[in-house]
Amino acid sequence: MSEIVYLNGEFMPLENARVPVLDRGFIFGDGVYEVIPVYSRHPFRLPEHLQRLQNSLDGIRLANPLTDPEWTGLTREIVARNQGEDQSIYLQVTRGVAKRDHAFPKDVKPTVFMMSSPLSTPSREQIERGVATISAADFRWHKCDVKSVALLGNCLLRQMANEAGCIETLLFRDGRLTEASASNVFIAKDGVLLAPPKSHLMLPGITYDVVLELAAASSMPHQVRAISEQEVRAADEIWVTSSTKEVLAVTTLDGKPVGTGKPGPVFRKMHSLYQEFKRKVMRQAA
Ligand code: PDD
Repeated sequence: MSEIVYLNGEFMPLENARVPVLDRGFIFGDGVYEVIPVYSRHPFRLPEHLQRLQNSLDGIRLANPLTDPEWTGLTREIVARNQGEDQSIYLQVTRGVAKRDHAFPKDVKPTVFMMSSPLSTPSREQIERGVATISAADFRWHKCDVKSVALLGNCLLRQMANEAGCIETLLFRDGRLTEASASNVFIAKDGVLLAPPKSHLMLPGITYDVVLELAAASSMPHQVRAISEQEVRAADEIWVTSSTKEVLAVTTLDGKPVGTGKPGPVFRKMHSLYQEFKRKVMRQAA
């Protein structure tokens, strides 16, 4: 069965989906997106993803082409039309097709695209042994809270990790931790979980929120505050979080072990809380 995608009001096989070259997503990266994990055919935290989509659209001054019930219906339909119990739903909205001119075109219909891929979460080995990362200066723009399809900065930063045989690049701006090329970052020191505060310098992760909610609900000591580069380098634990990585321990940074060099106790606690929470949410949705 071929992969079924949604484009501008129609479902079709992926190979039939075509976008004109003058689409502003192609020409300018003028659009926003979401990635929504689906477990056992249930989208996880869909209302939160739709709220963030709205915030991103507001951030680029593009009217939402669909209502939340319409987005929800489309998401369910894409899930139903594709194979696999666990999927990753990608949706993107661009400003549409117009003669090339930087300023916004008038009366143009946004392009709406959705697709499903198999959800690939970390392997058992990655969960048990942790993963390797590097660091770099965060040279991206000042609207990292907008989930923009213009990801060239993120792609360049992620490629650096790939070439170093690592899975992520942790980013520092003005001596402070922001996030990673495609994930948020937490650290733990002396049993206290630390997270950088949301700002225009990082994407407000849906997984980041879940982790902080679980920390609060389980009385895990935690603080949301600015984290210096020195604190990251001296941390007992570092984690990366995202909809596809979930919660993953970082065991090396720039070739040096993080803490003991193994996933730590705070991570193991949070990883099991996260898996338990997912199962609970899916049971409720079923
Ligand atoms: N990326 N920061 C950045 C820069 C990201 O690209 C992502 C997710 C996150 C984590 O957000 P969330 O927990 O909502 O997935 C943080 C997605 C998965 C991607 O681009 O594929």
